[in-house]
Amino acid sequence: MTDHIKYSRERDALLLLDQRLLPAREEGFECRSVEDVVFALKVMVVRGAPAIGVTAAFGCYLAARRTLAETPADWRAVLSARLERIEAARPTAVNLSWAVREMRRVWDLNPDAGLEDLAGIWLARAMDIQAADIEMCRAMGRFGAAFIDHGDTVMTHCNAGALATAGYGTALGVIRGAVEEGKKIRVIANETRPFLQGARLTAWELKRDGIPVTVACDNACALLMHRGLVQKVVVGADRIAANGDTANKIGTFGVAVLAERFGVPFYVAAPVYTIDPETRTGRDIPIEERDPREVTHVGETRVVPDGVPVFNFAFDVTPAELITAIVTEKGALTPPYERSIAELFK
Ligand code: MRU
Repeated sequence: MTDHIKYSRERDALLLLDQRLLPAREEGFECRSVEDVVFALKVMVVRGAPAIGVTAAFGCYLAARRTLAETPADWRAVLSARLERIEAARPTAVNLSWAVREMRRVWDLNPDAGLEDLAGIWLARAMDIQAADIEMCRAMGRFGAAFIDHGDTVMTHCNAGALATAGYGTALGVIRGAVEEGKKIRVIANETRPFLQGARLTAWELKRDGIPVTVACDNACALLMHRGLVQKVVVGADRIAANGDTANKIGTFGVAVLAERFGVPFYVAAPVYTIDPETRTGRDIPIEERDPREVTHVGETRVVPDGVPVFNFAFDVTPAELITAIVTEKGALTPPYERSIAELFK
């Protein structure tokens, strides 16, 4: 699946599949402005680290188009402020700020470009980023498949699939890679409270592909592992620090602790640009806190008594020592990650 993030030339707009509505409804969400893109990122019309990076790249193009239409005398400052707003939409996944920084880098390489030319250059770059993301996921799938055995049941947390990338997926890319090699495997998708990316999105994707999937409540993980029902865990990542500490959806850390307790190998699958050498350890990763309503309500129904505070941290950090290997498009990194990551960036 690759049509969930699509630039339409006819409409000069970014068309997104609205992930808030899945699996009940498959409806599009059209972004024509920076405001639309920032809204889509914040409320999670589109989510998943690489997918928000690709969306941000197209968002920069839309920012240039809007600025061109207004032709302000200080267009550079106006455009730069719009890029800052896109970059600030969500703090944890490094792919979002990476994409905006990449557009700024391309701008620096073309200092004399007028706004119209810059818009064209950015659109082409956004499309390249999108195409490259799919290729990276396929490569991760090939490398990661080596860790999955015929007959395995693989647990995953959140959605690190086609929907979370430009297509194919990171963690689900590894699962797809194993299936393409002819291995018969089953998947356990943790439901992933409160936004239910596992129950709603991972299960939807895998069912469409005919890959056997069972949804488990997040709090079933210990029981499932204790009963020997999980052979491998594969998850995605929003940011990997220089020492291998990995931020991913809230709950991932707990799964990793349990995996160690029960001797289940725990793999992270992520493209190299999810590794942020500027972030030294997991302590330096900003953790997004989201609207309490995601926890206090299920749909329109309040499930927490009015006035009771809730936590809604969107991510946690799994310490590097709990990670068996990090699968990238360049191959698998193994501990000690400080060294293998430094080698990679040499
Ligand atoms: O809040 P989300 O849905 O954007 O969080 C997504 C995740 O945590 C994914 O596991 C991560 O981005 C990897 S996606 C390939």
